[in-house]
Amino acid sequence: MARQEVYSLDRDAEESDRLNYQNTFLNRLVGHLISPAIQKNLPSAPAVADIGTGTGAWLLTTSKELPTQAKLHGYDISDAQFPAPGQLPQNITLTTLDAKAPAPVHLHGQYDLVHLRLLNAAMLPEDWFKVATHAWSLLKPGGALQWVEGNFRNLNVVYQSERNTKTSALSRGVDLTTRPRPHFDWFVDHLPDVLRSVGFEVVEQQVLSSDRLPQDRMEWSHIATGALHAIMRGNARMGVEGALTAEEAKSLAQEMRKECDEGAYFRVDTYEFVAIKK
Ligand SMILES: C[S@@+](CC[C@H](N)C(=O)[O-])C[C@H]1O[C@@H](n2cnc3c(N)ncnc32)[C@H](O)[C@@H]1O
Repeated sequence: MARQEVYSLDRDAEESDRLNYQNTFLNRLVGHLISPAIQKNLPSAPAVADIGTGTGAWLLTTSKELPTQAKLHGYDISDAQFPAPGQLPQNITLTTLDAKAPAPVHLHGQYDLVHLRLLNAAMLPEDWFKVATHAWSLLKPGGALQWVEGNFRNLNVVYQSERNTKTSALSRGVDLTTRPRPHFDWFVDHLPDVLRSVGFEVVEQQVLSSDRLPQDRMEWSHIATGALHAIMRGNARMGVEGALTAEEAKSLAQEMRKECDEGAYFRVDTYEFVAIKK
């Protein structure tokens, strides 16, 4: 039997829409597309690699802030969510590549910036060192790494208003998706040391709570519900033991959204690590 992929979110049209919507939210939460600590040393037309690019949403947004001479290359293990080539600016290319395998030699030392965001759901503890090493190999000396991750181990259900708000569907959603993954917070304590061991200098780390801005709580709760629904759809498709059927998952997600509309919300910590290749 083929080995089940660690990454279990579905890659259907609904999930592509969610990733694009989430991109706007995350850019606002993190506060920048490229960290000012990186920006100050970046050439005016940088070569940028986005690993685990998904729909290419971060690259597409970032391309609007960079000159057309910038080279913007997105990589992902799957091309299922890539926009059609005709929908991309001429300086963006998207290519399949497994971040856990060594990068092809012709890509070594080619990039001023390597960006990674939300690979956590694809990672086991032993994968972080591999992905960090391969990201390091893509960078020019002095090149920068920007890595944004969510600690889904602490995806908490919180009451927005009334203490007796119903949260049973939200809690069930967590129990079925993020709770069975105890390593979801592994990176919090270990990623900075992993980056140093690979040959990076870690120059900045920030932690952003998704409920920092009260007006964003509802939006994030719907995005997170969509992510849990995508995991449930993926689990149904892959026949994971104990998984809900696609229909059951859809109806649970509807219940979860209703609880959010009635006053409960999801909260999670997002981390940004900035490091320089020594
Ligand atoms: C949650 S999505 C995030 C997409 C994008 N980084 C963003 O922030 O919108 C995670 C992406 O990682 C990709 N991925 C999973 N395993 C991977 C691997 N081994 N190598 C490269 N990409 C991988 C998935 O296919 C998916 O597109």
